Amino acid sequence: MLPRSSRILRSPSLQHGMRYASSAAALNEIGKQHVTNGLGRISEGILSKGSGSYVEYLDGKKMLDFTCGIGVTNLGHCHPRVSKAAADQCMNLVHGQCSIAFNEPYLRLIERLLPAMPHPSLDSFFFWNSGTEAVEGALKMARVLTGRQNIIAMQGGYHGRTYGSMAVTKSKTIYSDGAAPLMPGVFSIPFPYWHQHGLPTSAPTSVLTEQSLYQLHLLLSQQTSPNDTAAIIVEPVLGEGGYIPAPKEFLEGLRAVCDQHGILLIIDEVQCGFGRAGSWFFIEQSGVKPDILLMAKGLANGFPLSGIVSRKELTDKLIPGSMGGTYAGNAVACAAACAVADAFREEDILSNVQARSKQLFAALHTLKDDQTLSPYILDVRGSGLMVAMEFASSEGPGAAFDPATPKGLSVKKGMASRVAKKCIEKGMLLLTTSVYEVVRFIPPLNVSEADMKKGCDIFAESVREVVRES
Ligand SMILES: Cc1ncc(COP(=O)(O)O)c(C=O)c1O
Repeated sequence: MLPRSSRILRSPSLQHGMRYASSAAALNEIGKQHVTNGLGRISEGILSKGSGSYVEYLDGKKMLDFTCGIGVTNLGHCHPRVSKAAADQCMNLVHGQCSIAFNEPYLRLIERLLPAMPHPSLDSFFFWNSGTEAVEGALKMARVLTGRQNIIAMQGGYHGRTYGSMAVTKSKTIYSDGAAPLMPGVFSIPFPYWHQHGLPTSAPTSVLTEQSLYQLHLLLSQQTSPNDTAAIIVEPVLGEGGYIPAPKEFLEGLRAVCDQHGILLIIDEVQCGFGRAGSWFFIEQSGVKPDILLMAKGLANGFPLSGIVSRKELTDKLIPGSMGGTYAGNAVACAAACAVADAFREEDILSNVQARSKQLFAALHTLKDDQTLSPYILDVRGSGLMVAMEFASSEGPGAAFDPATPKGLSVKKGMASRVAKKCIEKGMLLLTTSVYEVVRFIPPLNVSEADMKKGCDIFAESVREVVRES
């Protein structure tokens, strides 16, 4: 008997020169048999089309997409201007390898991004493909430029699934389970999030900030000397850790510590950047200057592109050839990103983010204020259109010690995923996040008022049903 994989490869439909499997059911079967089990999926079926705020599956099912493919299609699926720019570029130059010569869209993109930088000192760019590569590049730059090894990360932070980025990821153990040894020299401090300090939801921001900065000072005197510390890496809005915007004072505190000790501040805006959290980059709301700024996801609205931006004065110290990558700064992805930047400005995307953000927060607060639901809802938070609702759980991590858990209320673990599942059944894609009971809203930044209302209605219905069933 042949192993199962050989049987499928020898099946008539897949042999070279023969007919290919064409029905949705046959393709699904290929997915089940031949796509790695290491991938998880929140919905059944095969995506075949995307347009604006909606995706379509091969069987014709249409869904409102409040995930944006995890914060990527910020201008909606297949934004005509972005798709056209990419298609046109495909007819001119697809691969203009960055170590052979500059390619035109790469430089045109820098022209468009320079005025959007949160600080004028950020004037030196390197484009790569994915967020995790940008993180790897930043960690390498920090070590090379400071001659120091250690990195301080945030508890709850997520930075990717390659070895350096896995090491600084502290949001869930599943990302590195069994994969050790990871990159050495990584330390972490708690983020100013009440769970991480064992404080109630009512804990004031000032207390959370003080506690986190206190832990940073302890860390620098007990575990990693400033002389050995190359960088602090932080997502200014914690993504996989629960959608928590960092208080301005916390970011200022990190900057002050970095300035005091010559440590580089790496701001990872892979998820929260590009308008997602209400401004081009969230960090600009605090006025804090990054030494290295990372972006990806919304940058090219679905084409693989990431960016590492720093100061020329720093990047001039890098040895030519020490940065690079076969596909880094692909011409088609850069052309798409130019169109994204143009659409951002000309379609006044940020005004829509403000209006839809208010609409979404109002709908979520209405649920939180409803007496039948309020015991089950711990928090509504976020910035711009990076918004979360956190539910209670009497079984979550450390629930017995956690003052946020309502006493006497019995809520089984998994409320967030039950709500997300209901939303999917009712026609809206929605994701959970973190080790806590959190659902996250990542709608397109140009979502219409009507589609936002539809999404909020589906969500409200789902929450009510899950609470009734609890
Ligand atoms: C903040 C942040 N950094 C880095 C990454 C890794 O990006 P990628 O999945 O493109 O490698 C992600 C992905 O979700 C992210 O949210």
